[in-house]
Amino acid sequence: MSNKNIDEIVQKIEQLPSLPIISEKMQKLLFNSDDVSIKQIGNVIESDPPLAVKILKIVNSSFYGMLNNVSTIEHALVILGINEFKNVILGFSIQKYFVNSNKNFDPKRFWKHSVICSQIAKFLSKHFKIIDDGTYFLAGLTHDIGKLVIDQYFHKDFIAITNYITTNKTTFSSAEKEIMGVTHYQIAAKLLQKWNFPKKIIMQIFYHHAPWYDKEFTQGSIIIYLSNILTKIAGFTCFEHEKAISPNNCMTSSVFDFINKNGFEIDQESFEKLQENINEFLSSEANDVLKIFD
Ligand SMILES: [Fe+2]
Ligand SMILES: [Fe+2]
Repeated sequence: MSNKNIDEIVQKIEQLPSLPIISEKMQKLLFNSDDVSIKQIGNVIESDPPLAVKILKIVNSSFYGMLNNVSTIEHALVILGINEFKNVILGFSIQKYFVNSNKNFDPKRFWKHSVICSQIAKFLSKHFKIIDDGTYFLAGLTHDIGKLVIDQYFHKDFIAITNYITTNKTTFSSAEKEIMGVTHYQIAAKLLQKWNFPKKIIMQIFYHHAPWYDKEFTQGSIIIYLSNILTKIAGFTCFEHEKAISPNNCMTSSVFDFINKNGFEIDQESFEKLQENINEFLSSEANDVLKIFD
């Protein structure tokens, strides 16, 4: 892989369009104005029924423990809080941005991996008593979007990557390095920078396979690292042919040490218990929110 090729990839990402967030009106309400009322936001969201339905579905899922009682956007906003609400909207806008055209790659499976990862991330922040500033949902939901960027803008490479994974039973990262010399987390970080995402979210995504390199937002990167692994252990991988996760390889004693040093209390035994808790957490969801991206 020559440097020229990496430069070309970066250049192409620089040229991608800016994030098409719902409408200019919505952008203004959410990002430029401090004194916007819940009523005003409710009105704008309700003028976009598919978006409103998605928001109500997610807030009524058992993940938020609301027992199916939320029927208005205003109520959803109160429950999610403004930061998380903003991030839910951003997440759904991103999903709309990508159109999948690779017959071998199922986008529903991809988004299921992502949405479960976002909910496990929130679950872990509660479990480890680490404050959720509203970023875990979005970081979990978008941690793998670099794969969709490759599919959409470097389509031939993406087909070669998925074929390589199928033949060699390997991971996305190794296949991407082999075929493109650049990985999905590098590409995602570049694009999200261009889209002016908060630095913390970009870093959590950039380091989701190696949080020990993140010196600034280490706890957040650990949360996304763990939730990605736990999502796969629960059986929700992005792509049916990717290499099965091996918890022993991801969670070595040095990884446990590193995580513990950063304010988490976890060992082999509690990690196994955690897997059971997560299985219960996922199976208690009966409101079909996992079909939200179907
Ligand atoms: Fe990944
Ligand atoms: Fe992932």
